[in-house]
Amino acid sequence: MPAFTATAPGKIILFGEHAVVYGEPAIAVPVSSVQTRAVVNAVIGGSSGEIQIEAPDISLSAAVMELDPDHPLRAAVMAVLGDKDPGEMPACNIRISSSIPVASGLGSGAAVSAALIRALSAFLGQRLTDEQVSHLIFEVEKIHHDTPSGIDNTVIAHQKPIYYVKGEPFQFLSIESPFSILIADSGIPGHTQEAVQRVRQNWINNPDRFDLLFKSIGGISKMSKELIQSGSPADIGPLMNENHLLLQELGVSTPELDHLVDAARQAGALGAKLSGGGLGGNIIVLVDEGIDKITEALTKSGAVHTLNSTIPSNQISTD
Ligand code: PMV
Repeated sequence: MPAFTATAPGKIILFGEHAVVYGEPAIAVPVSSVQTRAVVNAVIGGSSGEIQIEAPDISLSAAVMELDPDHPLRAAVMAVLGDKDPGEMPACNIRISSSIPVASGLGSGAAVSAALIRALSAFLGQRLTDEQVSHLIFEVEKIHHDTPSGIDNTVIAHQKPIYYVKGEPFQFLSIESPFSILIADSGIPGHTQEAVQRVRQNWINNPDRFDLLFKSIGGISKMSKELIQSGSPADIGPLMNENHLLLQELGVSTPELDHLVDAARQAGALGAKLSGGGLGGNIIVLVDEGIDKITEALTKSGAVHTLNSTIPSNQISTD
């Protein structure tokens, strides 16, 4: 019996994190230079219901049904099974490997779910649409934090740049001219759940001010969409800087992230901001030239890893 294999890319949020949880638009793009892979093999002679999972990157080797019910890998398997009895599933082995750094804002959790859901459903002879995959990843994402906006599962399931407003049909984003984003990892794990809770508490304490901050971020996402779609990506640099300031005001940046953002700008970047939940994780930097100098400045300023990602132009028609 052949192995069933599926891969999923990482992602970055270009604009609008946190505000997206409160109904404002956000923009996210896939990062295909990092990937998660899931491989499912039938275990010939194994008893039904024996689902073994191996994830050597996190030193995990376990029977799925012995994992905690809240474990995201078990949740992803259960999401595929739906109402079916796991005890009746043909014996199989699932192997997960990933080059996406964990807790850095690159969507590693959603990518693991996406690859696993696709490979396992293929093994079971089910064909899922991207939208179905997105929906199942979302169910798993709820374990990570209570109020996911849905942006991570959408961009990772569809593997294309998206303009996203919670509760509305998402739009594919047409990229007129390619542009380069440098991703720099602060080396401090991001804490999305804590950051989302912090923002919620700040909003409860000061709703008028925070509603205004969310609106300002939403306005930046809207302007950036127009600039990206009209072939002026270099002009999003100042908007990235402005979005970072607003994220600082939301309370989700850190001195280390601010230091990296400043270093990138001083070395000639067109703009820089934190990306994802914050309190650690990545910053993203818009670069047109001098990438080596900017990379060096980031490394000197504490980045433990940098990744250059080109956002290619595409031919998506938008309405
Ligand atoms: O930390 P990440 O990359 O999973 O991004 C979280 C984005 C937030 O807007 C903070 C939360 C969400 O659900 O959209």
